[in-house]
Amino acid sequence: MTYSELVEAAPRGAAQFGAADLRRLPAKVLAELLASAPPAERELFEKGDLGAIGRLTKAGFWPLVYHLEPERWDALSKAEPIHPGVLAALPVDDARVLEVAAGTGRLTKHLAARARALIAVEPAAPLREMLQRRFPEVAVLDGVARELPVSKGWADVTVSCASLGPDPAILEEAERCTRRGGLHALISPGEPAWFEQHGYERLRFDPSQVKIPPHDPELEEFFGPLDPPHELLLKPL
Ligand SMILES: C[S@@+](CC[C@H](N)C(=O)[O-])C[C@H]1O[C@@H](n2cnc3c(N)ncnc32)[C@H](O)[C@@H]1O
Repeated sequence: MTYSELVEAAPRGAAQFGAADLRRLPAKVLAELLASAPPAERELFEKGDLGAIGRLTKAGFWPLVYHLEPERWDALSKAEPIHPGVLAALPVDDARVLEVAAGTGRLTKHLAARARALIAVEPAAPLREMLQRRFPEVAVLDGVARELPVSKGWADVTVSCASLGPDPAILEEAERCTRRGGLHALISPGEPAWFEQHGYERLRFDPSQVKIPPHDPELEEFFGPLDPPHELLLKPL
């Protein structure tokens, strides 16, 4: 997504973040956010311009949540369970599975119960620490999708949930880590139609069938309407 698309798409909760929160992000994450903005926006931010700060907190909404409010993300991910049809169609039983962008473990918990071996990669330290505490038996690693800390051809299946979109560098890296004859699986990625047009089988399930657990109504005020992951895109490699 472009900077202006991210600003446009930000949930209402972005209004709760300000300049001090942007400054509390890890330096690398703030630098990436600023690099995604037009140069004039960065100059305005450095001068303390309130408009630029407002737009940056919108564009940086998700990193702000992951790094400063990880419990809030965790509560959202629990209120939006993955569609059972997606889980049933995901061929991970007894497989070596690489999970990219694992968050706090919404998908990891299913993979840990079914896979023969599992590596879960997550770049945001607060989420990764929660994930490792929750699943001490899983190999939880720091890393980003464009550069995964996994050897060539390690995985039978490489999978991500509600993360990442059609970035060629990310797809190439998933391919590198997956053995020939293995599978790339994406649960509700960004721009699913792009994947469908590029050789992925697209399975869609009815989101109204997902049993939403009781949750604090404040979650929807902050993040907007719930949208449990309900699509699966699969491509043999
Ligand atoms: C919407 S959350 C989904 C988390 C988890 N997969 C789930 O379904 O609950 C997106 C995740 O992608 C991670 N992420 C963001 N940018 C990433 C990147 N470049 N490489 C890998 N993971 C990334 C975030 O830290 C966050 O955990």
